[in-house]
Amino acid sequence: LTSTYKLANGEKIPVVGFGTWQTPDGQVAEDSVLAALKAGYRHIDTAMIYGNEASVGRAIHKSGVRRDELFVTTKLWNTDHTYERAVKAIDTSLQTLGLDYLDLYLIHWPNPVAFRENWQDANSEAWRAMEEAVKAGKIKSIGVSNFMPRHLDALYKTAKIKPVVNQIYLNPSDQQKEVVAYNQAHDMISEAYSPLGTGNLLAVPELVALAEKYEKSVAQVTLRWSLQKGFLPLPKSVTPTRIVENAQLFDFELSAKDMQAIDALQGVAGQAKNPDETTF
Ligand code: A2P
Repeated sequence: LTSTYKLANGEKIPVVGFGTWQTPDGQVAEDSVLAALKAGYRHIDTAMIYGNEASVGRAIHKSGVRRDELFVTTKLWNTDHTYERAVKAIDTSLQTLGLDYLDLYLIHWPNPVAFRENWQDANSEAWRAMEEAVKAGKIKSIGVSNFMPRHLDALYKTAKIKPVVNQIYLNPSDQQKEVVAYNQAHDMISEAYSPLGTGNLLAVPELVALAEKYEKSVAQVTLRWSLQKGFLPLPKSVTPTRIVENAQLFDFELSAKDMQAIDALQGVAGQAKNPDETTF
């Protein structure tokens, strides 16, 4: 869990992160993040819209883990894609988390309903605010989430600092090959949210059979596939035993043949919506 990828800007990022999407705010979020930190996770992924930044922050402080040993990500919400609003959103997230810098800050969605007519300019303005926050020492690295190649092509027109991460819905059932290839060609790490397909992959017979073969859980096999693809999985759980289980991925390796068998599962448990068709 302490192994890292190197981002294009030279910063290090732990190869597995703890996801908190759909983790309710309050005691549940605080306890699960504390359990994750106790289990050895050093990378926590949250977002303003998850509503749990305050609990995540409390857990971080209670854990006693040193700030410089931790990697914390949060994200800009869809209502805040202007320069002024983004400046404020960054400060608010820092305050809510109780941190004086973020390791990574992402534009959460490329094409919010509120900016559908001018999403290119909106993203470019938000990005400018993020670049300034990097210069001011408030953020170490900046990136995007749910961006397709055309959204990134547009961002590159004005970006002075290049995004180092694209966080997308990414698992054996939705391998997003075009986006992943683009990310790779542009020196971005592909972070995988919902690496277990929000849990929908856990009963897929091919994965169940592989789990038996490797004497691991389906979750572990699926997360191992993600790592061996070079992705950065962000498994979410509020269950202490699962939190521990999802971190135990480094004592086995899937064979090339079994990797291919999992590659063949595209579509088996549904796919993400096109980001341009979201209604938020
Ligand atoms: P819970 O949070 O109740 O433990 P994803 O990361 O793809 O979004 O998947 C998250 C979902 O998968 C949650 O419903 C979570 O349940 C469940 N989950 C996470 N880890 C495991 C595991 N190791 N075994 C079974 N279910 C898991």
